[in-house]
Amino acid sequence: MSRLTRTLLLASSLASGAAAQNGTQGEGLHSLMVAAGKLYFGTAMETNNFDDAAYQAIATNKNEFGMFTPENSQKWEVTEPTQNDFSFTQADSIAERVLSNGQLFRCHTLTWHSQLPPFVANGTWTPETLTAVLTAHITTVMQHYAGQCYAWDVVNEALNEDGSLRSSPFLTTLGEAYIPLSFTIAAQADPSTKLYYNDFNLETTPPKTAAALSLVRAVQSAGAPIHGVGFQAHLNVGQTPSRADLAAILTSFTALGVEVAYTELDIAHVAPALPADEAGNAQQAEDYAAVVGSCLDVEACVGVTVWQFTDRYSWVPSTFPGKGEACLWTEGYEKKVAYERVVGLLREAAVVEGGGGGAGGGAGDGSGSGNGRWGKWVDFFRGKLEYVMFDAYTPRP
Ligand SMILES: *[C@@H]1O[C@H](CO)[C@@H](O)[C@H](O)[C@H]1NC(C)=O
Ligand SMILES: *[C@@H]1O[C@H](CO)[C@@H](O)[C@H](O)[C@H]1NC(C)=O
Repeated sequence: MSRLTRTLLLASSLASGAAAQNGTQGEGLHSLMVAAGKLYFGTAMETNNFDDAAYQAIATNKNEFGMFTPENSQKWEVTEPTQNDFSFTQADSIAERVLSNGQLFRCHTLTWHSQLPPFVANGTWTPETLTAVLTAHITTVMQHYAGQCYAWDVVNEALNEDGSLRSSPFLTTLGEAYIPLSFTIAAQADPSTKLYYNDFNLETTPPKTAAALSLVRAVQSAGAPIHGVGFQAHLNVGQTPSRADLAAILTSFTALGVEVAYTELDIAHVAPALPADEAGNAQQAEDYAAVVGSCLDVEACVGVTVWQFTDRYSWVPSTFPGKGEACLWTEGYEKKVAYERVVGLLREAAVVEGGGGGAGGGAGDGSGSGNGRWGKWVDFFRGKLEYVMFDAYTPRP
């Protein structure tokens, strides 16, 4: 081999290595999810993850993740800690980081009973004064991020497990009308983003699932726009519903004309099965595959977001003592069998999707589902994703 040939080979392997690391080619959760006909595979991230080089090497890899949700930075206690005193520094630093890397941003959350600042949680309200506060909050925060968010979780966790409405300052003062009101204000603040209802246990708790279906219908009947329902999917190993059952639940929502997504997926091992053994990890892999597979099975399921990808930063052990190891990567950034299982599943789905008319042709399939609106959105955002991926190759002046 001549020195020139060796140099060229070395140069080309270095170049493709660097490109693969930046996610412009190669294989991972997000690139395979897109190849399988979906919009994204995403993760939650927080500002305390910025200085962890091992974390960032994975997070910035566009093969792995194409969508980011700030874990806490856009919650009311952070964005408006005292009335009319808005602070966006923390969430801006996440938005700038991911958007400048050609990744998408999913925004979370506006009307929620938890992580409220004291002035809202413990204020004394009339319907008029609380409506004014809610309007100012939603409008100011959404206008600040206008054009940056694929979707907003407008109303979060409004339901109890028995299907009744959860107590909050909003319910107490405004009654259930606070829900359509929030969506109406949101639509006026940023007409370019998707407006979601987001909740947990919709995968496992029938009275709550039924109530969420009613909630979507109630928002629609009130004439307020709602485009999506987020399934948080905080699940347990060995207690996760089957792929078919999950797909049936998703379909009961998409039948109402909304898209769906898994928005906070993690699947925890439960004590005494901790630390997890081989059988536990194999079950976790099956459970992750059921969730991701159910999204593949439902056309209007646009994507999956995990609530952190490494056990190092999972909220689970500190929030739910006796549960843990819920993520796709270990604390030490090793991929678990669940990661390999999801990638394997997506690889097979990508081959099927590719064979069915190519990656570009797949995008239009959604309009055949009877809900042309979400199909157009998928086309639009997929176009945007392809654009940013393509743009990454073009030197900027
Ligand atoms: C990958 O991303 C880094 C950081 O943004 C950048 O410095 C580098 O030039 C990129 N490499 C390629 C091959 O695009
Ligand atoms: C509201 O007041 C209660 C009782 O004083 C307190 O426990 C709680 O932390 C307060 N909530 C907030 C968000 O400040």
